[in-house]
Amino acid sequence: MRDQGSGPEREPDEAQRAANIRESFREAFRSEADFVARAPGRVNIIGEHTDYNGGYVLPAAIDRTLLVAAKPMPGSRTVELYSVNYDRWASFDLDNIEPSTDKSQTWSNYVRAVAWALADRGYIDVSAMHGAQLAIEGDVPRASGLSSSAAIEVASALTFTRLAGVEMGRVDLALVCQRAENEFIGVKSGIMDQFISALGQADSALLIDTRSLAYEAVPLGLEEISYKLVVADSAVPRSLITSAYNQRTVECEQAVRILAPLLNLGRGAQLRDISLAQLEEHKDALPEMLYRRAHHVISEDDRTLRAAELMRAGLGKDDNMAQFGKLLYASHVSLRDDYEVSSPQLDMLVELASEVPGVAGARMTGAGFGGCTVNIVQARHLDEFQHHVIDQYRQRTGLDGKLYVCKAVEGGTYV
Ligand code: GLA
Repeated sequence: MRDQGSGPEREPDEAQRAANIRESFREAFRSEADFVARAPGRVNIIGEHTDYNGGYVLPAAIDRTLLVAAKPMPGSRTVELYSVNYDRWASFDLDNIEPSTDKSQTWSNYVRAVAWALADRGYIDVSAMHGAQLAIEGDVPRASGLSSSAAIEVASALTFTRLAGVEMGRVDLALVCQRAENEFIGVKSGIMDQFISALGQADSALLIDTRSLAYEAVPLGLEEISYKLVVADSAVPRSLITSAYNQRTVECEQAVRILAPLLNLGRGAQLRDISLAQLEEHKDALPEMLYRRAHHVISEDDRTLRAAELMRAGLGKDDNMAQFGKLLYASHVSLRDDYEVSSPQLDMLVELASEVPGVAGARMTGAGFGGCTVNIVQARHLDEFQHHVIDQYRQRTGLDGKLYVCKAVEGGTYV
């Protein structure tokens, strides 16, 4: 990955990056790419670890994206891949799509996963498809909780569907990418990341009902009131994420298994179906740890709906921003204490942020166990944020935290 520097930086614009990846394609394959697909990473504003419980999430697609330049290879059965970031090659056979266990090729597994899932679901007829050459470049920080994996999955799905001449709805495309992640990569993730990467809208977050997959664009409206969406990267890559994440999904299921009969809920019940009052009523039926897990998820759903409500009403009005900020802080505390997916570094970043004037709210974002925080910061306090949060963080931890000032952008496109 290119070094992001430690200051709030502007990325080269997308047209320039598209030109660059076409140039990289030319150098790598000695020919011209037919098209370039692009998909963004995301920051989740609020609604964490709710999506595999049928609950609500409120993410935004961000101006950190993954580009795939592609060209079909008539007569070939091979997909050849070149990663600009790693300066590495990989390839796979369309007749036998398997994950690579070769460490130098695991980056290509997301692309393989999506080809596999599209074929497995019957969306593309792999036997009729040509091989292809693909060059890939991204500036979504990896292992940071900003969904670089969803970005590569969605960009790959856009690439393969176009190569196969198939039109596919965006919700279906997100579902195929989730299946790729769940079954080929082995992370039992919910639908949030792939959904927002495929369907994100500029200047908005999406309130997604992860059960019905109904969604609503909720304008962020930060520019108008001189606030910024700021991501602070703890520079601690997420570790043990797969096992800890999958463990949380199991704990939520266990809590439902105990509560559902007590509440006369039928098969298919999820934490989404249980209110805080019901949880409190049956608190004693649950082991303490499962109670806390359920408490996080159920209270987070409430916070997410309230946050969306405040955004709809306008964060610039009345004391809506203050209330919104409180919801973010409360989400962090809940993730830290009830759900236990934060880390000392993320806690420190949130605490430091809370000391800066002009910070409305802050919380860890994404799966946790390292990665990033999301902060809503008054534009005129950005320098102070940089100095206080990032400099203090470096002094206390020796770690080189980074800031990304983000814009909410459109989901996957061809550029
Ligand atoms: C990861 C998963 C998402 C979601 C978040 C936590 O990003 O991919 O589906 O569960 O963690 O909110």
